[in-house]
Order: sequence, then structure tokens, then C-alpha cells
Amino acid sequence: MAELQLVRGEGALQRALAAIREDVDDFFDRTLTIPNDLRARLVSAMRYAVIGGGKRLRPLLTVSTAALYNVDRAQAVRAGCAVEAIHVYSLIHDDLPCMDDDALRRGQPTVHLEYDEATAVLAGDSLHALAFELLSEPAMSTDPFLRAELVECLARASGHGGMAGGQMMDMASDFPDTPPFDLHTITRLQQLKTGALLGAAVEMGAILGRIPPDGRSHLRAYARDIGLAFQIADDLLDVEGDEETVGKAVGKDSAQGKQTFVTLMGVDGARAQANALVEQAIGHLSNHGDEAEVLRAIARYIVERDR
Ligand code: IPE
Ligand code: IPE
Ligand code: MG
Ligand code: MG
Ligand code: MG
Repeated sequence: MAELQLVRGEGALQRALAAIREDVDDFFDRTLTIPNDLRARLVSAMRYAVIGGGKRLRPLLTVSTAALYNVDRAQAVRAGCAVEAIHVYSLIHDDLPCMDDDALRRGQPTVHLEYDEATAVLAGDSLHALAFELLSEPAMSTDPFLRAELVECLARASGHGGMAGGQMMDMASDFPDTPPFDLHTITRLQQLKTGALLGAAVEMGAILGRIPPDGRSHLRAYARDIGLAFQIADDLLDVEGDEETVGKAVGKDSAQGKQTFVTLMGVDGARAQANALVEQAIGHLSNHGDEAEVLRAIARYIVERDR
């Protein structure tokens, strides 16, 4: 029975991943038209970064959470694309020479190599702004309070209290005067760098479902656990993954002296921790029935993935 349920979850996940890829590509294709003036290079770089690649996990989380509450799918896709826009901006900047200096992203040359550094900075900036434009314009919702709540949620997860703050801790992890990180500090780093945006993706689905903050705590707990498991899996892929499959360089964390769960706990310890977090995440969904099967399957996929 448990096995049957697992298979059903996996099939549903594969279908959901395929559907969200198509929806996200289509959304950005319609949203980003190349202007017939000197900004063409900028919008072309934005399209290059945001269309046709990536797992689309964040929009999938928004859509799958929103589906628990019967939210209109197109509305959830728009909100999910706002999170994806922030994510892709963070990847473009993360790959810059002044940060991780990477040449490969989603199986293609990074934006600063395909275009140039200035265009990459501006493409990131513009995707950052686009995210909030998508959430705040009337097409998002006729309810301005709902729009404001979405904006607040994503803004908090993006800045110094979220992704950018975590990126700063990550950069600082190899400064000569930074002491070795303990488990608490690594956990905090990962929660901000990666967990915050994944958390916003889930929470925005619940906001769209008009679930008040105290009704979302189990989803926040689910998101916190999968967020941590997700970054542990990313760090494991950096050690054990294959560049062609992963679509980005591997072996970079240790080459750059980055401190991760893997440096602290070893490969086996980190994997055990990630698996435990997935079980814990699934446990937080126990009040939901079959309608949460994709969210459960996402949790499993996060640690089993090879890319
Ligand atoms: C990679 O994120 C960067 C991290 C936050 C670890 P993903 O693994 O979700 O990358 P894409 O979106 O599938 O390319
Ligand atoms: C970056 O983490 C997370 C972001 C906020 C972009 P990593 O530097 O580990 O991501 P990858 O491995 O380059 O995708
Ligand atoms: Mg990085
Ligand atoms: Mg990187
Ligand atoms: Mg990484």
C-alpha cells in the first residue's frame, strides 16, 4: 500500500514538473518581449536566463500549495513566476566573477559569459524588479491587500533577512578571519540563502488560498525542512554529482573553501540529515490527504535528485 502510494506520488510529480515547466516558459515568453531599441540586449539576456531551463521547483511549490486550497492555477503560476524571477536573478549574480565565478548554469554558459558582466548585472536587477511588478499589478489579484501580502512575503525572503543575507554569510565563510562554522551557523546560512525563497514559494501558495498566518504554520515547518534538505542535496551534488547531469560545475565548494553541511558532517552524515529532514517535512503534512501527494513527492525528490 505504501509502495503503491509512493508510485502514485512519483507519477503525479513527473506530470506536475512537466506542466509547470511549460507554464513558466510560456509565462516568461509572453511577459518578456524584446524591445526594438537599445534595451534589446538586456531583455534578450533576461530571456536567456529565465526561459527553458531549471527544475522550476519554486513555482511548483507555489502552485502545489495553492492547489490545496483550490486557487486558480493561472494566478498561482504568476506568483510562482515571481519567485522564479528572484531565484534566477540570484543565480545570475551568484555566478558572476565577484561571487562564485562560474561558467556553466542549467547546462549553458552563464549570462556574463554569453553576454557580458554589465548585462548580467542588469538582467539580474531587472528580474528582481519584475518579480515585484508581477505581484503588485492588478492582474495578480483584484484584492490590493492580497497583493501587498504577497509582495511583503517575497521581499522579506529576498533581502538581508533572506537570500541576500545568506549569500553574504556564504561569501564570508571563506574570508581569512572567519572562524570555522558550527552547525548552528551553517543551518542559519542555508536557511537564509536557500530556505527563505523556498519558504516564500510555499507560503505564497497559502496566502493565495487566503489562509491566515496561524493556519500556515505546518506549511512553514514543511518548507523549513525541505529548504534545508534541498541545500544539503545541492552541497552533496557539488561533491558527488556529474557536471553534465547537474548542468553546473561541481567540486567548486571545496575549491573555494566554502563551509557547508558536507564539510561539517561528511557525505554520509549530511545525507542522513537530509533524509531525516524529508521524513520530518512529510510529517508536517499529516493533516492533508491525497491533495498533498505532490508536496510529499517534492520532498522526496529534493534529496533523490541528480540535478
Ligand atoms: C540552485 O537552485 C541554487 C540553490 C539555491 C542551491 P536549483 O537547484 O533550484 O536550480 P534550478 O532552478 O533547478 O536551476
Ligand atoms: C547559491 O548557492 C544560492 C543562491 C542564492 C543563488 P550555490 O552557490 O551553492 O548555488 P549553485 O551551486 O551555484 O547553484
Ligand atoms: Mg554561491
Ligand atoms: Mg554558486
Ligand atoms: Mg551549490
